[in-house]
Amino acid sequence: MARHLITSAIPYINGIKHLGNLVGSQLPADLFARYQRARGNEVLFLCATDEHGTPAELAAAKAGQPVAEYCAEMHAVQSGIAEGFRLSFDHFGRSSSPQNHRLTQHFAGVLADRGLIREVSETQMYSPTDGRFLPDRYIEGTCPNCGFEDARGDQCDNCTKQLDPVDLINPRSVISGATDLEMRETKHLYLRQSTMKDQLEEWIDTREGWPVLTTSIAKKWLNDGDGLQDRGITRDLDWGIPVRKGDQDWPGMEGKVFYVWFDAPIEYIACAQEWVDADKGDDWERWWRTDKGAEDVTYTQFMGKDNVPFHTLSFPATILGSGEPWKLVDYIKSFNYLNYDGGQFSTSRGRGVFMDQALEILPADYWRWWLLSHAPESSDSEFTWENFQASVNKDLADVLGNFASRVTKFCRSKFGETVPAGGLPGDREAALVTALTGKLREYETHMQTIEVRKAAAALRAAWVLGNEYLQDAAPWTTFKTDPEQAAMQIRLALNMIRLYAVISSPFIPDASAQLLAAIRSGDDSWPEDVPAALSLLPEGHAFDVPDVTFRKIADEERAGWQEKFAGRRT
Ligand code: 2FM
Ligand code: ZN
Repeated sequence: MARHLITSAIPYINGIKHLGNLVGSQLPADLFARYQRARGNEVLFLCATDEHGTPAELAAAKAGQPVAEYCAEMHAVQSGIAEGFRLSFDHFGRSSSPQNHRLTQHFAGVLADRGLIREVSETQMYSPTDGRFLPDRYIEGTCPNCGFEDARGDQCDNCTKQLDPVDLINPRSVISGATDLEMRETKHLYLRQSTMKDQLEEWIDTREGWPVLTTSIAKKWLNDGDGLQDRGITRDLDWGIPVRKGDQDWPGMEGKVFYVWFDAPIEYIACAQEWVDADKGDDWERWWRTDKGAEDVTYTQFMGKDNVPFHTLSFPATILGSGEPWKLVDYIKSFNYLNYDGGQFSTSRGRGVFMDQALEILPADYWRWWLLSHAPESSDSEFTWENFQASVNKDLADVLGNFASRVTKFCRSKFGETVPAGGLPGDREAALVTALTGKLREYETHMQTIEVRKAAAALRAAWVLGNEYLQDAAPWTTFKTDPEQAAMQIRLALNMIRLYAVISSPFIPDASAQLLAAIRSGDDSWPEDVPAALSLLPEGHAFDVPDVTFRKIADEERAGWQEKFAGRRT
């Protein structure tokens, strides 16, 4: 039995994620986790909320809540939505957990002991009125480029120019509106990534079969301009993990916290500790420590392309730099962007369909199927309502749903609600078994190499084979002249429903469970041997006709959603 550690990039706490976020990390990670479990492998699948940094502080302020309270509430909200999408995390943790505090401080301490951290003095905007340094997003003012009066310290939303807070005309504090801002000196810690460039480059060069998207982004950051830059890992913020050297104070760093991108990936490890502390598991080290058994683990990470530099360079720099036996990632699966109806999905602009809204209009499987079968793997892809409607109606309703419904209804009307005996299979059945075996092996290969779209296409092709067989064998016609043969055909088709339920479960877990329940089979074993799997249900085995597995989306309904989601979410 293989062991798979699987993590999805941890979503920011500030707000509900859109479908583009979902398909770029959590959903494909879930697909892979479900597949590996279905193949009998041992899986630890972890995700969490990314709770630190300015966006969390700002969102809490906007909601009028203390940040800790806001994060606890939003964690519960995101966790509920994840369940709604059937994301099968073994644990959905929080980067603000005590476990992550301890571990982040531990890593910083070890890196400092190994000479990999240096202190740097910088000047930064300070607000005497607020009694604190102001990060870029906490400063607004007039854009020097276009005159827009509410430009942020990092960027002007009107003309999109990237800014530095000192560029702003009449800068003011977002917190208090104070204008008496001044530049003050402050000290920060930098991780000396530049000294690890060769080690990181060698590590990346020796990764076999990594997606081009992943390695090309990593290489660009390693070699662009001046090469890999040292990275500031502390911030002057209130909310975050206090800067400490292990369990010791860090002189000069009082009142500062670690930068969110330093502690977020460490949460992958802390999350496994949370999983144990929540009594869901009993040994996290055998997943994370190569001296405690993790040498045998295959570790796969899922993320959008914007997260790749942090996972190919910064987090490995933390791990390698520690000199401790932590498990390094084996495979990084990254995704391009999903666009929405001619533009971008955008959280800040409220554009697109958000996860909670999606579940309000249709069950999870409809979304899972469309998103995964259109995953933005080799390039960006686009969600359109027409395409969504066509794909649901054709693939799910016409092909899979219809097959299950026709077979069970026909059997009920002619043979009753039990599997009929029937005669011996012939050439047509042998050809079907061969074709189905071929598609299934193709599907397995794509699932193993995480080629999501190709896997979806192979699965769809396997469903189509069932329909073609039914069309060709036409048991409703055969029945008139040779009921024995019709019974054999239907018996085979009933077995195919079970087989489809099993192999489709990573994509559409609810429909799969529904089909398996209708066929009254507790056997969800993977069809390693297709002929054996197709003769599994014995004669006389009772079943039910399933309720409509997938309903079709009507044109008016589609048009209604199109209009409803055309505006901006507030
Ligand atoms: O892009 C994001 O949503 C980040 N919150 C991802 C963090 S992944 C990690 F490093 F933990
Ligand atoms: Zn501007």
